[in-house]
Amino acid sequence: MGTNLQFISKIYSILPDSGTISCVSPSNIALVKYWGKRPVQLPENPSISFTLNTCTTKTMLKYKKLNQESHDFNFQLLFEGKPKPNFRPKIQSFFERIVAYMPFLKQYEFTIETSNTFPHSSGIASSASGMSALAYCLVQLEKKINPEMSNEQVIQKTSFLSRLGSGSACRSIEGPLTVWGGHKDIEGSTNEYAIKFPYQIHEVFNKYQDTILLVDKGEKQVSSSVGHDLMHGHPFAIKRFEQANENIAKLKTILISGDIDAFIEVVESEALTLHAMMMTSLPYFILMKPNTLSIINKVWEYRKETGSKLCFTLDAGANVHLLYPDSEKELVKDFITRELVVYCQKGQYICDEIGLGAKLL
Ligand code: PMV
Repeated sequence: MGTNLQFISKIYSILPDSGTISCVSPSNIALVKYWGKRPVQLPENPSISFTLNTCTTKTMLKYKKLNQESHDFNFQLLFEGKPKPNFRPKIQSFFERIVAYMPFLKQYEFTIETSNTFPHSSGIASSASGMSALAYCLVQLEKKINPEMSNEQVIQKTSFLSRLGSGSACRSIEGPLTVWGGHKDIEGSTNEYAIKFPYQIHEVFNKYQDTILLVDKGEKQVSSSVGHDLMHGHPFAIKRFEQANENIAKLKTILISGDIDAFIEVVESEALTLHAMMMTSLPYFILMKPNTLSIINKVWEYRKETGSKLCFTLDAGANVHLLYPDSEKELVKDFITRELVVYCQKGQYICDEIGLGAKLL
């Protein structure tokens, strides 16, 4: 693994004894999808996402300095107030990956208390909000140790460490739109961390809505890390990575001009392409459910009948994200309750909108 010298912290001689840092970090939904990676969590193509507002993880990090540096990491993990042993390995490997950038980690004992605002096992990935929240707290600790860190350094390092935790988590630190992965048309973009979309976004995207229809709340049969790996040697991989680059270029223009019809075309095509990559992997797999397809067809019908600008996207699962302008909020709400709720597990859905990223509490 190449080490990124930019993010290695100095060896600090004075470390605070104990304290607590709390933050909240949101999930995000990709418009152009990241699917396929190289070690360690470097994307094969750039991606762009809306940062969410309501679907968040709240994390409280308690830190206590040890008398002497320990051999391993010392942490306790509480999820919604209770120990969560099956989350430990992920945090342990996260610490292992980031210790090169935070040498003080082994000098502390941590208690990590975390909870999500979205329903437990709703099928909404909590890794983006969860990993970014933890990275956020850790970089805030570093900032206490080294107050000279600039805001820009803090944000970049938080995104960089989040990426090492879970790729797409790096896009949750800022909002309303972030880009992760180097792209020739996006100034400052890099594979190392996400940046805020650096151009003025058209006002039609202000308060853009995302209603997440919970189609299937079960465990996914194929995890995203397995899915990413299956892009190695995938027959369509090279073409797909090229296409994602082209779609970022198109979306840049669309986000600036406010051309929603073009937005719909790129976003829906990206969602279906992501799932097409899954269906054409070896072994092949399908994460959509019959109700996912019913919803998609209903959205298309509704758009045709009403001229609405409602569109859908998908992440690596069966749930459907409905994206639409704030001006259509009431009409879409009626449409959802009238025609789409029947396709949701237990009639559940979450109303969210684009947000501004992680913050200290
Ligand atoms: O960050 P990961 O490894 O969970 O991968 C996320 C992949 C997608 O959600 C399907 C796409 C994306 O860009 O968020």
